[in-house]
Amino acid sequence: MKLTAAAVAALLTTPAVAFTVPNASFQSRTALNAVSKKDSYDITLLPGDGIGPEITTATTKVLKSLTDRCGFTLNLKEALIGGAAIDACNDPFPDESLEQCRNSDSVLLACIGGYKWDKNPRELRPETGLLKMRKEMELFANLRPAKVLEQLIDASTLKREVVEGVDVMVVRELTGDVYFGEPKGIDTLESGERVGYNNMIYKESEIERIARVAGDVASKRRGELCSIDKANVLDVSQLWKDVVTDVISKDFPDVKLSHMYVDNAAMQLIRWPKQFDTIVCGNIFGDILSDEASMLVGSLGMLPSASIGSEGPGVFEPCHGSAPDIAGQDKANPLAMILSAAMMLRYDLDRAAEADLLESAVEAVLDQGVRTADIKQEGDGCKLVGCVEMGEVVAKLVETMDMVSV
Ligand code: IPM
Ligand code: MG
Repeated sequence: MKLTAAAVAALLTTPAVAFTVPNASFQSRTALNAVSKKDSYDITLLPGDGIGPEITTATTKVLKSLTDRCGFTLNLKEALIGGAAIDACNDPFPDESLEQCRNSDSVLLACIGGYKWDKNPRELRPETGLLKMRKEMELFANLRPAKVLEQLIDASTLKREVVEGVDVMVVRELTGDVYFGEPKGIDTLESGERVGYNNMIYKESEIERIARVAGDVASKRRGELCSIDKANVLDVSQLWKDVVTDVISKDFPDVKLSHMYVDNAAMQLIRWPKQFDTIVCGNIFGDILSDEASMLVGSLGMLPSASIGSEGPGVFEPCHGSAPDIAGQDKANPLAMILSAAMMLRYDLDRAAEADLLESAVEAVLDQGVRTADIKQEGDGCKLVGCVEMGEVVAKLVETMDMVSV
């Protein structure tokens, strides 16, 4: 297609006619739990690519210990996503996988992607499968906690006094923004020059519902919410700021709301991260800031995340990628996926005590000085283990540790 510069300019200013987002309100889901507590749950496991299958095996072992001990059942059934799905059926997220996820109580995903598919056309890339899953399951809220653990302070590249005690929750909008906005594409102008464009766009209803999730999350934490935007330049950000302000002042009067430009936030997160409690941001700013926040903790290998909608199952996954360079070598850290399983228990399955037990077991394993390569420091006196052994040690702790209450 050939477009004149004027036509491109017009396209870029076209209102989002083709952009449809259901007006679901987060208020319909008063607690974060998708289902109430029961004896048996159907869980879809998406091992994905790279280190995915290894960390999934380790996590499954830990979950088996947990369910044996606590007397409930998780029916774990695998499905395909990402490169594995492209290889098996030429589709990064086949309809069977989507159906199975929709019919589950919750979904636990490892990670996707790898060099092998990097040159594929966009529709046959693993990332496209992940984005399709988020959009089709309406997982508009992504919760990414970055909590610095005392045992791993020295794994951070920042100074101890800067990171000690950091506990930030990034609430990232996940189904809108420049990721999904129309129009988008790469076209050729009459001059022969190519032009690439995406549309950074948010509807009020999309901002409202993520603001409600963030207000809810902040009110259950320290009650401070910082909304991130670029309202000094972007109109879409001005709307973001106005709508977040309205929602929080009306529905969460006890939450203390502040605003910060995204460039300043990127700097402040490194300068003095303890000033943040809960952060709310759009999709692209959240993508960038959550990776940054993860390095406060020392390793991406420790960070879980939850993606949830207003109803139906959520998807729980580590923040890290598929690390194809170490795949199949028993070097991966399964702790982020184990912690993602804890978030699943807490947010989707109404099993908070069991989530606490998993999280305590992860802390205990660190207390015992057991480390995978990504969190091992030279001369720290800790024991280096592989993915399999890390899973076994956590599973054993889950079996034997004191449990506060079930
Ligand atoms: C993430 C990832 C994804 C994103 C990629 C893999 C599509 O970076 O979950 O943060 O950009 O959202
Ligand atoms: Mg990312």
